[in-house]
Amino acid sequence: MLKKIAHYIKEVESFNSSDHGEIEQFRIKFLSKKGIIPGLFSEFKNIPAGQKKAFGNKINLLKNITADRINTLKNQIDTLHEESPLYDLSLPPEPILLGSRHPVSIVRREIIDIFSKIGFLISEGPEIEDNWHNFSGLNFPDEHPARDMQDTFFIEKNPDILLRTHTSSVQVRVMESEKPPIRKIFPGRVFRNEAISARAHCIFHQIEGLYINENVSFADLKQTLLFFAKAMFGENTEIRLRPSFFPFTEPSAEMDISCSICFGKGCNVCKYTGFVEILGCGMVDPSVLELSKINSKKYTGFAFGMGIERIAMLKYQINDLRLFFENDVRFLNQFRGDFS
Ligand code: DAH
Repeated sequence: MLKKIAHYIKEVESFNSSDHGEIEQFRIKFLSKKGIIPGLFSEFKNIPAGQKKAFGNKINLLKNITADRINTLKNQIDTLHEESPLYDLSLPPEPILLGSRHPVSIVRREIIDIFSKIGFLISEGPEIEDNWHNFSGLNFPDEHPARDMQDTFFIEKNPDILLRTHTSSVQVRVMESEKPPIRKIFPGRVFRNEAISARAHCIFHQIEGLYINENVSFADLKQTLLFFAKAMFGENTEIRLRPSFFPFTEPSAEMDISCSICFGKGCNVCKYTGFVEILGCGMVDPSVLELSKINSKKYTGFAFGMGIERIAMLKYQINDLRLFFENDVRFLNQFRGDFS
C-alpha cells in the first residue's frame, strides 16, 4: 500500500500541463470525492494499528503535494498570459467608424441656429403643393414663365398640383394660418425641372425667411441679413444688395457677400468680382399680404430665400452640385467630425 502511494506521489510530481482542462481532469482524478486520495483515506480503517501513522503521513503528503502541484501549474498559466497576454493593451484601438452628417444637414442646422438667435422660429410646408401656395398666392401672374412645364414638375397632368419650386410657398401657408407678428424660417426640399449639371439640379434645398410686423423696414432686412452673413462666413464679411425682381417682393434685391475664398481680391469662384450671390430678398409686396388676408396698411414685412447647397458650396469650396446627391463616401467622409 505504501508503495502504491509512493507511486502516486511520483505521478503527481511528474504531472505537467499548461491546459486548464487537463489540470482540472488531474484534480478530479486525485482529489474529487470519488478520486484516488479520498479512496486511500477510506482504506485507512483497514490498516493495522502499527502502520496507521506512517500510512496517514504518506496520504497527507500525497494530498498536499497534489494540491501544491495544481496551484503551481495554475499560477504558471496565469504568469504565462501576463508575459505574453492574448491582447496587447498598448496597441492603439481600431478606429470606430462613426457616420458623418451630410454637408446639407450641417449647413441647414447652422443657418437655423443663426436665425434662431434673433428670434426666428421654424415652420415647414408640404413638398407637394398646389398652384395657389406656390404661385398665385405669391403674386405670380397666370402667364409667368416660372409656371411653365419646363421649370415645374406637375403631378398627373393636373396643373393645380405640383412639386413646390421654392420654399416661398410656406410663406403663404403661414400667412394664411397665423397672425402677425410672424418671424419664421422655412427650411425644405424644392424641385425644378432642370437638366442636372455642376450648377443645377432637379432637387435641392432652400431656407426661406419671413418677418411681418408693424413698421418693418428695408433697414431691418439689411441688418438681419448682415448679421446672418457675418455669423455664417466670418466677422469681416461684407454684403451688397443689388436691385432685382421677384413677383412677391417690392422692392426686391439679390444679396452678394464678399468672396470668402479670395477675400475680395478676385478668384474664379467670384469670377474676379470679389462678390458672390447668395440669396434673393425684398419687402413683402402688399398685394401678397392682402392675398393672405393680412392688413397691408397696418403691417409690412420682409422675406428672403437662399439655397442651402449654394451656401455649403461656398463654405466648403465645393464646385459641383452633383456631389451633394451622389452620396459618394469619399465625399461624405470629409465631413466626419463636423457635428456643428
Ligand atoms: N423663391 C426665390 C427662388 O426660389 C427666392 C426668394 C427671393 C425668396 C426673394 C424670397 C425673396 O423670399 O424675397 O428663387
